[in-house]
Amino acid sequence: MRTNDAQMLVLFVLADGPPLHGYAINTAIEKLTGARLGRGSLSGALARLEAKGLIERMELRGRQLPFQLTPSGRETLERELASTARVAEQLFETAVPDRIGYQDRIAATEFAQSYKQLAVEALNVRPGQTVLDLGCGPGTDLAALAEAVTPSGAVFGIDANPGMLERARARTAELTQVTVQQGDIHALPYADASVDRAHTDRVLQHVADPGRVLAEARRVLRPGGRLVMAEPDWEALAIDHPDLELSRAYTRHIAERIVRNGALGRQLARLATEAGFTVSAVLPVVTVIRDVREADQVLGIQRNTERAVAAGYLSDGEAQRWLEHLAEGPFLASATLYLTVVDVPAGGGSHSG
Ligand SMILES: C[S@@+](CC[C@H](N)C(=O)[O-])C[C@H]1O[C@@H](n2cnc3c(N)ncnc32)[C@H](O)[C@@H]1O
Repeated sequence: MRTNDAQMLVLFVLADGPPLHGYAINTAIEKLTGARLGRGSLSGALARLEAKGLIERMELRGRQLPFQLTPSGRETLERELASTARVAEQLFETAVPDRIGYQDRIAATEFAQSYKQLAVEALNVRPGQTVLDLGCGPGTDLAALAEAVTPSGAVFGIDANPGMLERARARTAELTQVTVQQGDIHALPYADASVDRAHTDRVLQHVADPGRVLAEARRVLRPGGRLVMAEPDWEALAIDHPDLELSRAYTRHIAERIVRNGALGRQLARLATEAGFTVSAVLPVVTVIRDVREADQVLGIQRNTERAVAAGYLSDGEAQRWLEHLAEGPFLASATLYLTVVDVPAGGGSHSG
């Protein structure tokens, strides 16, 4: 027998406390979830639970009687909670994936494939040109950029992480036009006005000073050169849960603690203007994920929930309610990334900003 959410909440609040009247049950539910049940929903839940023998009115003569759990109600609650916990355990990935494997996993999603293709198209690369992939990671986009410049052009992949670079080198060993090098993109090892195109994909969200990287990109790009940045806005991460406050707390934790520049997506047009670029387009790319496993592969739902608890964004009980509902579904999450396309004014001299 399945109990619905309202019935589960009634069983839950009666399990630990004293017997309660209907209005007190609803107050306890409000304390737990942040919202009261509607009058019909509460009375329906009470009537059904009573009919199933899961709750009963206490026998106190001469008074309106409060409800208490029956032994069978307690058993049902424990069974349902254990079953939800089992589902959650099997569903969510607990080990931290290795960084390269994680990037490959994201790159394999339909969403990444489609926005990455859009980004390369927006770069408008011509054969023979020189392109930088800033924060190239395991070389995910180097082959597509190499194809666009053709063997007569040049692609430079730059990244700070040696493991990522090793993978990027192995991946592009056959592509003579690609060079992979270690470096910090806050200080690019290229001459002023020496490249035609530059690209970032989920990189500026992590750097210490995005404005500094933009200034460097502006310095090395030629007049008429273009920079395309694919960067998320984690404050726009929306995960459905009946208790909106839990969704907000989860998103706030990701945007404030997990990602260094959590709202960068919306800020790039302004920062690029300040760095001397002309903003040509800001294209929103939104994905909706309705499969909790698929979302977990990208969002690390359980791991990040545990971190949110450690950081004080969620209590243990809230985290449990959050994960249990996500595991049970129906699930829906949506994430937003912006493709920001900016140009160096043609014939524009150096920019001092
Ligand atoms: C999320 S990964 C994205 C990799 C790649 N662009 C892709 O789409 O698969 C971010 C990459 O940026 C690199 N990175 C972060 N800060 C950097 C910095 N200051 N200089 C160079 N690389 C950096 C990291 O090492 C990592 O490989």
